[in-house]
Amino acid sequence: MLVNAKYEKFIRDQYDELIRTRYMPHFRVLGSPNSAKAILDGQEILILCANNYLGLANDPEMKKAAVEAVEKWGAGMGTGRMIMTMAIQDELEEKAAEFKSAEAALVYPTGYTANVGAVWSLMAEGDTIVSDELNHASIIDGCRLARGTNRLIYKHLDMKDLEAKLKESVKDRAKGKTMIITDSVFSQDGDICPLPEIVELAEKYDAFVYIDDAHATGVLGKTGRGTVEHFNLYGRVEVQMGTLSKAIATCGGYVAGSNELKYYLWRRSRTYCFSTGFPDPATAGATLKAFEIIKREPERVQRLWDNTRYFKKELEDLGFNTGISQTPITPVIVGTPEKAMQLSRLLYEEEKIFVNAVSYPVVPKGTDRIRTIVNAHHKREELDYAVGAFERVGKKLDLI
Ligand SMILES: Cc1ncc(COP(=O)(O)O)c(C=O)c1O
Repeated sequence: MLVNAKYEKFIRDQYDELIRTRYMPHFRVLGSPNSAKAILDGQEILILCANNYLGLANDPEMKKAAVEAVEKWGAGMGTGRMIMTMAIQDELEEKAAEFKSAEAALVYPTGYTANVGAVWSLMAEGDTIVSDELNHASIIDGCRLARGTNRLIYKHLDMKDLEAKLKESVKDRAKGKTMIITDSVFSQDGDICPLPEIVELAEKYDAFVYIDDAHATGVLGKTGRGTVEHFNLYGRVEVQMGTLSKAIATCGGYVAGSNELKYYLWRRSRTYCFSTGFPDPATAGATLKAFEIIKREPERVQRLWDNTRYFKKELEDLGFNTGISQTPITPVIVGTPEKAMQLSRLLYEEEKIFVNAVSYPVVPKGTDRIRTIVNAHHKREELDYAVGAFERVGKKLDLI
């Protein structure tokens, strides 16, 4: 094959750089469903880093619902939703809206495309976006695409800085609207945004609020409905984005809010309009079942939190640095990429536990870590085994 030389050089240089900086991890291959224990690269491993918060990914009811939906609706939709919509897709959006106590919801192919599409189409020239500095990449990318907007970044969770940025934005206020946008649970540190203060500041400075509830849905709130339930802020957050790919354990993203918001995004948001009909029947069927199960079994959320508190305290008592986490996402911060890779590797090779290493650019330099996430389906003896393994490996690497 004749390959363009400039193209080949570009790809070769990029690849070499990834290898040189060791930012090319070995991707582990699952040979079974993702569960508390799973077959990874051919051996049984305890999985301690899955977003499968409520253990629904391999739930028999979920699988049955997916199969039944395929039998009834087929394997795929075969057209875009600008042209037709399937009744099961409409039903899913109704249930997603109900779950988030919103009037309506629109389901996108992923959480990433939901954020990019919604932020991009909501914010126009002359508008101001005020964004937490540690917001997810999909929010950042949506902001970048919103051309002509005034973008102000406030220090992570710093309400004084947020207020200063809102005051600063007032000079542009005559031109357009202002949006405060934030992850509600931050994906690498597991901390929660102070939503009550954010909402108050929004009301004081004539702004609206957009939250990314990806790691909060199924996790925060007594019944797992997310951050609005957790802080009892019903009716005070204009846009709730979420993903189906974490606690809901399927795939897709959604934006929930008013009916007008839904139909505006349906017609105008490019990551929705220019993509073939989603969700496919299997995803829609399983996702509908997930909402039903979470509603019926709030004890899953309780078990997730019992496990979270237990495991986090054990790691802290051992002397590990777990940062500022308040949720099931519990990082173990070790400070260099090498140490993070070593910790992940020894836990895997010697203890048969999988936790992934996370380094720059996903987290700031010097905060390299492994990122643990316990799930509702972990048994106490599995967590005890993991605590023992962390102690053994932590001592070996002089981390504790
Ligand atoms: C905070 C946050 N927002 C959005 C996303 C994107 O969701 P998805 O994986 O469904 O594209 C993620 C997932 O990585 C996330 O952690």
